[in-house]
Amino acid sequence: GLATALSSAVLAQDISGKVIGFSQIGSESGWRAAETSVTRQEAEARGVDLKFADAQQKQENQIKAIRGFIAQGVDAILLAPVVATGWEDVLAEAQEAEIPVVLLDRGIEAPEDLYLTAVMSDQVLEGRVAGEWLVEAVGDEECNVVELQGTVGSSPAINRKQGFEEAIAGHDNITITQSQTGDFTRSKGKEVMEAFLKSTNGGEDICAVYAHNDDMAVGAIQAIKDAGLKPGTDIKVVSIDAVPDIFTAIAAGEANATVELTPNMAGPAFDALAAYWADGTEPEKFIITESKLYTAEDDPEGEYERRKDLGY
Ligand code: AHR
Repeated sequence: GLATALSSAVLAQDISGKVIGFSQIGSESGWRAAETSVTRQEAEARGVDLKFADAQQKQENQIKAIRGFIAQGVDAILLAPVVATGWEDVLAEAQEAEIPVVLLDRGIEAPEDLYLTAVMSDQVLEGRVAGEWLVEAVGDEECNVVELQGTVGSSPAINRKQGFEEAIAGHDNITITQSQTGDFTRSKGKEVMEAFLKSTNGGEDICAVYAHNDDMAVGAIQAIKDAGLKPGTDIKVVSIDAVPDIFTAIAAGEANATVELTPNMAGPAFDALAAYWADGTEPEKFIITESKLYTAEDDPEGEYERRKDLGY
C-alpha cells in the first residue's frame, strides 16, 4: 500500500548515491542467478551504484575483488562467501578501512565483529525440514537415501547435511548409504547420481535422493530417468531452494519436495545499511530468512509462475 511505498521511498533516499561492491560466488545454480538479478534490482530501486564482481566459484577471486573494492573506497561490501574459512585477513582490511561488510546467504567461521550482519537462512533448519518431510513420507518403510552435497567447505553444505542427519536420527529405517558433493551444479548432480545408480544395481536399493539444492536434484532426476526409473515415484526427490525448475518437476510428479530459500538477501542487507548509516543502528548479527516446505499440494504451477514474475 501507500505506507509501504512511502517508507521504501524514504529508504531509497537514504542510500541513493552509495557505492556498494558485491562479491558474488558465480552462477553455479538457478538460485544464484536469481540472487544476482534480485540484488541488481534492489540496488537500482534504491539508487545504489552496485559494483558487481563474479568470482567464478573461487575464493581467491573473491579476496581480490574485496581488495579492489577497498582500494576504490566503496561505501559498503556485500559478500556471498563461497567457503566458510579463510576470510579473516581480507575482512580485517575492510574493517581497517571502515567499510562495513554484509554477508549474503552463506556463513563464515571468523570473529563476528568482522562483519556488520549476515542475511541468510537457518541452513541447519533447511536440512531438518527436508529430513522431516522424508521421515513423514516413508513412514516405517526401509529407505536408503543418497545425498548430493553442495560445495565442499561451504556453510550450506555443512549445515544442510547436519540438519538432515538430525531429522532422520532415531529413525533406523532411514539410512544415508552414499553421500558425495555435486558442487551445487546440475551437471555434477547428474554425474554423481549416475555413479550412485551404477553402484546400486541400477538404483534398485535407492529409495530417495536428498540434494542440497534444486539444481543438483534436477540433474539427478535426469540421471534417474536415463536409468529407466521414475523420479518422484521409484526414487523420491527432496531438495532446497524452490526455484522455478523444481516446481516444473514437482508439477510433473518427478520431484516431491523443496525448501524455499529467498533470493532476496539484498533487500534486508540494504535496509540494515540504511539504518546503520542513518543513525548508527546496529542490526542483528544474523538476519534469518524463512525456510518453507513446498510439495505437490502447494500449487507448484502457481509457484512457478510467481517466481517467473519476480524475475527468476
Ligand atoms: O548459499 C546458497 C546456496 O548456494 C543455494 O542453495 C545454492 O543453490 C547455491 O548455489
